[in-house]
Formats: sequence, C-alpha cells, structure tokens
Amino acid sequence: MWRVARDSGSLDLNSSYSYLLLADHFSDTCRVAVLDGRVVGFLSGYLLPRDPSRFFLWQVAVDDAARGHRVAGRLVDSVIDGLPGVDSLVTTVTEDNTSSRRVFQRWAAERGATLSEVTGFEAEHFPDGHEAEPLLVIEGIRRS
Ligand SMILES: CC(C)(COP(=O)(O)OP(=O)(O)OC[C@H]1O[C@@H](n2cnc3c(N)ncnc32)[C@H](O)[C@@H]1OP(=O)(O)O)[C@@H](O)C(=O)NCCC(=O)NCCS
Repeated sequence: MWRVARDSGSLDLNSSYSYLLLADHFSDTCRVAVLDGRVVGFLSGYLLPRDPSRFFLWQVAVDDAARGHRVAGRLVDSVIDGLPGVDSLVTTVTEDNTSSRRVFQRWAAERGATLSEVTGFEAEHFPDGHEAEPLLVIEGIRRS
C-alpha cells in the first residue's frame, strides 16, 4: 500500500507505519488488488466513528501500468459488498483529479446512487499549502 501510494504520482504519502495500522486494525475496510502475485492497487478507509453507516474512503490508487481496467471501482465494490450495514460512501477528491472523479461518478451510477459534492476540508484547514479537498457523498447505494 505504501509503495503504490508512493508511486501514484498524486497521493499524499503517509508513513509506512500508518499503512501497517490500516492493514492490521482496519482490514475489514481496506483492500488490495493483486496481479501475478504483486500488489498493484489498494483502497483504504474506515467506518465513520460517529456514524458507522457511512464508509469514509481515505485513499485509492492503482499502479500506472494497471490503470484503465476499472480496478479502482472493483476495490470499491469489494469493500462495500463486505459491509452490509453501510448505506453511503464519503470521500474527498481534489478539483483537478479527473480520473478519480470518473471512478466515483461511474461507481455511483452503477449502484443507482446519487453523488453530491459539498465543502469538505478547505485549503486554510491545511498547515502545508495543501489544496482544498471537496467532499463527495454517495448515497442510496443499491445492493445486488
Ligand atoms: C484514480 C485511480 C485510482 C483510478 O484507477 P483505475 O483503476 O485506473 O480506474 P478506471 O479504470 O475506472 O479509470 C478511471 C479513469 O481514469 C482515466 N484513465 C484510464 N486509463 C488511464 C491510464 N492508463 N492512466 C491514467 N488514467 C487513466 C480515465 O479518465 C478513466 O475514466 P474513463 O474510463 O471514464 O475514461 C488511478 O488513476 C490512480 O491511482 N490515480 C492516482 C491516485 C489518485 O489520484 N487516487 C484518488 C485520490 S484518493
């Protein structure tokens, strides 16, 4: 997960220790995609502590060579299908991240869900010049 995040070209790289915590303590809400024995993608997230019916998707990334094959959407499918008590997905995506926005638009459409965008973390919330992270809210997820 740490390596895929490092090589993604756009994700904030968290400490290797934080990815170990996610993989160990939050394995029910995280996924990796494996191709030929190698991790080529991951999704991290958790249930919001104040509202466990909401899944917060923290990061999703796919190695450059594996992009364009809907791996990210399948990671979202896998984690949400394993969480029957969840009825909405929330995540933050920067304005310019077209690929990521396409993933969530398509995924919401496939699940008959609505996708709305509201103010999330604004630029002034970050101490390091990080750009704003609007919040995408996907509600009404259809279950197969
Ligand atoms: C966003 C990301 C996870 C999408 O993963 P993916 O498995 O390639 O997703 P998809 O196959 O559904 O493609 C989504 C969009 O990516 C773009 N795309 C397709 N092939 C691509 C490629 N080879 N390289 C770059 N982008 C590509 C297209 O816009 C596509 O939308 P479209 O199919 O409607 O044209 C991946 O691009 C990535 O890891 N990006 C860097 C990390 C990041 O920004 N993560 C999201 C923020 S947490």
